[in-house]
Amino acid sequence: MTERTLAIIKPDAVKKNVIGRIVQRIEEEGFRIVEMRLVHLSKDDAKGFYIVHKDRPFYDSLTDFMSSGDAVVMLLEREDAIATWRKVMGATDPAKAAPGTLRHAYGFSIERNAVHGSDARETAAWEINHFFKS
Ligand code: CMP
Repeated sequence: MTERTLAIIKPDAVKKNVIGRIVQRIEEEGFRIVEMRLVHLSKDDAKGFYIVHKDRPFYDSLTDFMSSGDAVVMLLEREDAIATWRKVMGATDPAKAAPGTLRHAYGFSIERNAVHGSDARETAAWEINHFFKS
């Protein structure tokens, strides 16, 4: 079933100049890019986006990192978009991500892990609305 997910190319990957390679992979995997925008999140934007993690010990550091530079937010569409994008990204921790995944190729640490993707239908709807209100 056709589904939508929110993808982010995080500031570490933008600084590495690999936006193009990641977008190419997205296209090769058969996603349609419905919306795409370069953003520089403020600390408060990042805190709002990651509000579900507000009680985690990494919340402050994660939101510092996510507001440290430009990021690319994308609305992706495909059959099984949520699970497929998670597979293409690989495990959250790049050290555990399988070869061939984006986090294996471009991630640096569990925090600086190059890309983000929604983890379920409800979070996808919430995250898409967060960046692409229509
Ligand atoms: P992401 O898919 O964007 O969702 C939440 C983010 O929190 C995750 O990727 C990581 O970047 C970060 N994260 C998750 N677990 C940890 C952790 N243990 N330490 C630091 N950052 C983490």
